[in-house]
Amino acid sequence: MAGFDVSKIDRDTWLRSVFPEWGTYLNEKIDQTVVPEGKFSMWWLGCTGVWLKTPADANITVDYWTQRGRDKLQREPYEEVKDTQIVRMTGSTGRPAFLRCSPQVLDPFAITKLDAVLSTHIHRDHICPYVAASACKNTDAVFIGPSMACDIWESWGVPKSRIVRVKPGDEYRIKDTTIKALESFDRTILITPPPLGDLKGKLLDMDERAVNYLITTPAGSVYHSGDSHFSNSYFKHGRDHNIDICFVSYGQNGPGITDKVPASDCLRIAQNLRAKQLVPIHWDLWSAQMPDPHELVMLHEFNKHWMKFNLFIWKVGGQLTWPDDRDVLWYNYPKDDEDFYTNEPNWPFPTFL
Ligand SMILES: [Fe+2]
Repeated sequence: MAGFDVSKIDRDTWLRSVFPEWGTYLNEKIDQTVVPEGKFSMWWLGCTGVWLKTPADANITVDYWTQRGRDKLQREPYEEVKDTQIVRMTGSTGRPAFLRCSPQVLDPFAITKLDAVLSTHIHRDHICPYVAASACKNTDAVFIGPSMACDIWESWGVPKSRIVRVKPGDEYRIKDTTIKALESFDRTILITPPPLGDLKGKLLDMDERAVNYLITTPAGSVYHSGDSHFSNSYFKHGRDHNIDICFVSYGQNGPGITDKVPASDCLRIAQNLRAKQLVPIHWDLWSAQMPDPHELVMLHEFNKHWMKFNLFIWKVGGQLTWPDDRDVLWYNYPKDDEDFYTNEPNWPFPTFL
């Protein structure tokens, strides 16, 4: 293959030409998408990161995060990580290998239009300095999150005037869309620093650290549960609100860990919320927590006669349009074949393929 000169290639040229893996393809796709009345579109950005776009051109991200996890075989010194939630949770001598498995499908620095950056909670895979930097420089987006997430943005230099602190019950309007903060049920956020040190007998305030969101567009609503675990209180959220799609942080916990939501609890959450469609997220990201989603499909199949909602197994970078995709079970990337056979195929003879 011509065009390369190895004397001019080094690690930096490799990084610049290969990352993000999708270049600006998805940026351009989102920019060019015109959402018709009666619908809304979303794209999965990996982990619990989602981009939502509406007919009035409201562009909202939730938990868009562009970093990576473990990048060395050697564990960090215990003293540096002893207060992280996984080490506190398990009593381990270091952090397990959480390796990022999803590609980077969006270039944060190629974003041209964004109305709001939302964060559900203060875990590092849900709030991102690179997204904050690009949103500050290139857009007028506001930053919406629980109080301690807003403290993090402020510490990174996001102007106070662009930060909106929310607690459960608060609402914020963007064009044709309303964002409502609701209670989070993420118990592991309560063993996440601050504070450092001994946690025995200390009960922290969940609302300062984490919220769930109900995002309501003219065409339907999305419930984003961040990293919440199962809670009976989902029933109340489902009784009080009309929910079309619910996102749940699905995953396979290893022994001795309760972190991601197992398949059976994903179903219970969607059922309690009275959602019409369950969309598991987060399961794509971490090597140490990756399930096979066929497990969820089998369990849903077993229970769907009394759990009256659909299941949608997404792929990172893929688009979900409501209500068009409400009956889709497995997402398929587009084959991009619309213009095939516009020209005569260039084959050695007509029946070659
Ligand atoms: Fe997470």
